[in-house]
Amino acid sequence: MTQGSAWVAVSEFVRRPDMVGSAVPASARMVRRMLGPLDWHRIGVLVEYGPGTGRFTFEALKRMRSDATLLAIETGEGFVEALRNSCDDHRLIVVRGTAQDVNRHLAEQGLKKANCILTGLPFSTLEPDEADAIMRESARALSSSGVLAAYQMRRAIRPLLKRHFASLRSSYEWWNIPPCHLYWARGKRLGALMAAR
Ligand SMILES: C[S@@+](CC[C@H](N)C(=O)[O-])C[C@H]1O[C@@H](n2cnc3c(N)ncnc32)[C@H](O)[C@@H]1O
Repeated sequence: MTQGSAWVAVSEFVRRPDMVGSAVPASARMVRRMLGPLDWHRIGVLVEYGPGTGRFTFEALKRMRSDATLLAIETGEGFVEALRNSCDDHRLIVVRGTAQDVNRHLAEQGLKKANCILTGLPFSTLEPDEADAIMRESARALSSSGVLAAYQMRRAIRPLLKRHFASLRSSYEWWNIPPCHLYWARGKRLGALMAAR
């Protein structure tokens, strides 16, 4: 991380601590463990919620196919600008907005379903309605074989993942500040999507 992006991370955290969650970017080890189990050959569209300074973004780009797209959705203006300025990879699209509007952002970029959604949004501090709406829209946005990969300080996301996905794998990474729960959820439950309509 450059000095400039470290400054952006601290100032965004001070401005909106509940939305940013942590001023310390994810450790290299946690990024490797989160991204390792993903099947990169099958990922044509990856959506990342809250890329922050791009800790996961740059590592995902290294693993992605040359014809794949990474759509990064970020609420923090400072993060959006810093990420746009620090990366000129044509596969990366950075939009300022909220994860709740993922389906609109995909449509606006001419993209269909996502094969993977990667998120470190602090689900434990989101309002329950917002958290549920983000998970519902995420399940809608994923292809039938798509996977939602999440790293979280707390376990508040777990019941949401269980409600919207049939299969859930989890792990824990101590080597991070703070240590994090890691989740990979697959097999979206159509019942949960229908019930929400
Ligand atoms: C825990 S930080 C993750 C930062 C980064 N991925 C990392 O590991 O260094 C959470 C990020 O989500 C962003 N964020 C919070 N709420 C959001 C929302 N509803 N939609 C999109 N991004 C959001 C914050 O601005 C912040 O960049």
